[in-house]
Amino acid sequence: MFLWGGAIAACQAEGGFGEDHKGMSVSDISFYDPHSDRVDLSKHSNITSELIEQALNADSTKGYPKRDGVDFYHRYAEDIALCAEMGFKVFRFSIAWSRIFPNGDEQEPNLKGLEFYDRVFDELEKHHIEPLVTLSHFELPLHIVNQYGGWKDRKVIEMFTNFAAVLFNRYKHRVRYWITFNEINAGRFATFKSTGIVEDRTENYLQDIYQAVHHQFVASALAVKLCHDIAPESKIGCMIARLTTYPATCHPDDIMQATLDDQYGNFFYMDVMVRGYYPSYMNRYFLENSIEIIKGEEDDAILRNNIVDFISLSYYVSSITTNDKERLKSLQQTEGNLTRGLKNPYLIASDWGWQIDPVGLRYSLNTIYDRYQKPLFIVENGLGAEDILEDDHKIHDAYRISYLKEHIKQMKEAIIDGVELIGYTPWSALDIISSGTSEMSKRYGFIYVDKDDEGKGTLNRYPKDSFYWYKQIIESNGADLHNW
Ligand code: BG6
Repeated sequence: MFLWGGAIAACQAEGGFGEDHKGMSVSDISFYDPHSDRVDLSKHSNITSELIEQALNADSTKGYPKRDGVDFYHRYAEDIALCAEMGFKVFRFSIAWSRIFPNGDEQEPNLKGLEFYDRVFDELEKHHIEPLVTLSHFELPLHIVNQYGGWKDRKVIEMFTNFAAVLFNRYKHRVRYWITFNEINAGRFATFKSTGIVEDRTENYLQDIYQAVHHQFVASALAVKLCHDIAPESKIGCMIARLTTYPATCHPDDIMQATLDDQYGNFFYMDVMVRGYYPSYMNRYFLENSIEIIKGEEDDAILRNNIVDFISLSYYVSSITTNDKERLKSLQQTEGNLTRGLKNPYLIASDWGWQIDPVGLRYSLNTIYDRYQKPLFIVENGLGAEDILEDDHKIHDAYRISYLKEHIKQMKEAIIDGVELIGYTPWSALDIISSGTSEMSKRYGFIYVDKDDEGKGTLNRYPKDSFYWYKQIIESNGADLHNW
């Protein structure tokens, strides 16, 4: 059965800030500044020591929208019931590390936090929806940032595996699909929320980033081992943000640049987690950039012996690349998921400058499947747009339907090409806080949440037109694409 569903993340949806002993996480530092350029991601991702200090001293959740999320913490039952109405077979969500281990380095878990997820699983089971659980979705406990410098400290591996073991033991009979790290290739582009490294606290930023990524690789492999030992019926996968990049021209140098971008941005991460070893092109990159990865004695064996069962990916955009400095000047910059790119004249973009490229999804699925021959799972794909809530509480989001329809068409083409695709969980099941900009008005959901950028609103949920459209897509197992 193909797994149709939708996705959210704890740090963008739950709220419940500080409730039931929850600790702070890296996402609780993300501020929303109504006066900043909402499109330019770099303005939002540059977290400094000063900003952390300010956030720690803030006496309310005001200005930090992820702390309140959309109150999934209290409204999960209603939200899951709506997902069930759409016919979801699977629901992707993350378990907030800082809810289970408020500081990250405790030995014993916070039972109150686990009890919340028990209730979420109960609700999913009631509606026969399968959970797809991400262990780490930009939710590193803040204490680990301040006390250990984030993932650059090797000790964090053990903290993470303790957390993972608690979840595998408790939920081994309830979860069939696990994901270790959301978009593990984000470390290079969205460093703070992915690794907890603060630029002004490090002397060699790039070195620390790759050291942190190495620790995440080892932690991911150890989580794979634990999962296979504790929950042998389950499957555990890796996840990357698929950064699809085409050469700007057919000049051989541009073709080579696109290959390098693919290696550094995508394949490096999958090669380690799917093949089980560091690819040779990264050794060259490390050498040329004076990066030295410090590995534990057992690390290579850990990576080799614990490869993932499936590959999951987010796919939103594509961009182009060139290595010609002159050509670069004539190309326009554009935004995208996690990182900026260059404008492709053949594509249109969303209001946030993310270039829309459905064919790029088929291309990406083929490219990844060709290389690894592992089952693939699209766990994020969608359109961030400003929706209008009409007086009759309807939301006419034809643009979202069109985006998803074109991507599903290409997904089907990829399946016909022979790609083993097991599921599709668009981003997002319901409107949640934007990860990149902390806005509310950048909406992705099938379900509208009545809340604005200032945090005002009833928090009521309303199905959008896309809700009814997607319901029909699921009912017909994707066949019913042309009637809309
Ligand atoms: C992915 C993340 O990068 O993109 C999600 O895994 C995020 O957490 C999604 O929400 C869309 O990005 P944004 O910045 O528009 O919310």
